[in-house]
Amino acid sequence: MTAAAAFDVTLARAIIARKQSTPGAALPILHDLQHAFGYIDDAAIPLVADALNISKAEALGVVSFYPDFRRAPAEGRVMKLCRAESCQANGCEELVAHLETKHGIAPDRPKPGAGLQVETVYCLGNCALSPAALVDGEPVGRLDAARLDAIVSAGQASAQ
Ligand code: FES
Repeated sequence: MTAAAAFDVTLARAIIARKQSTPGAALPILHDLQHAFGYIDDAAIPLVADALNISKAEALGVVSFYPDFRRAPAEGRVMKLCRAESCQANGCEELVAHLETKHGIAPDRPKPGAGLQVETVYCLGNCALSPAALVDGEPVGRLDAARLDAIVSAGQASAQ
């Protein structure tokens, strides 16, 4: 599960320092920051820029370019639901329809109070266990409507 700690400058600096001298450090650092805090806080941008000796605009550009980076804390749980070929062949679109009709949750359209945000991805490398998803970073395979309902319920409970 993604640790959703409150943003902390000292921790952010430590995370950045771990990889700042690695070639191509921007993406690994940003991923580590998102893993630690659940999103990339605005206050992290100048820290990353300073550490990598790039402009704040460049650091922000990297964050903005990749849709995987979140600019604000997610509400509830986050599910990355695969909708690529193998998962399609094994019912992911039926799961999408179930989410919409039973829970009013549509992929890629966060709904306040839903407790679960669903983001479309295309192949998680877990095709053998299609339909597959990541829930707060944890792989879930052979997803079905009952498991989906349980994930939604858990998300609603954790959001309260
Ligand atoms: S197609 Fe869904 S995990 Fe590969």
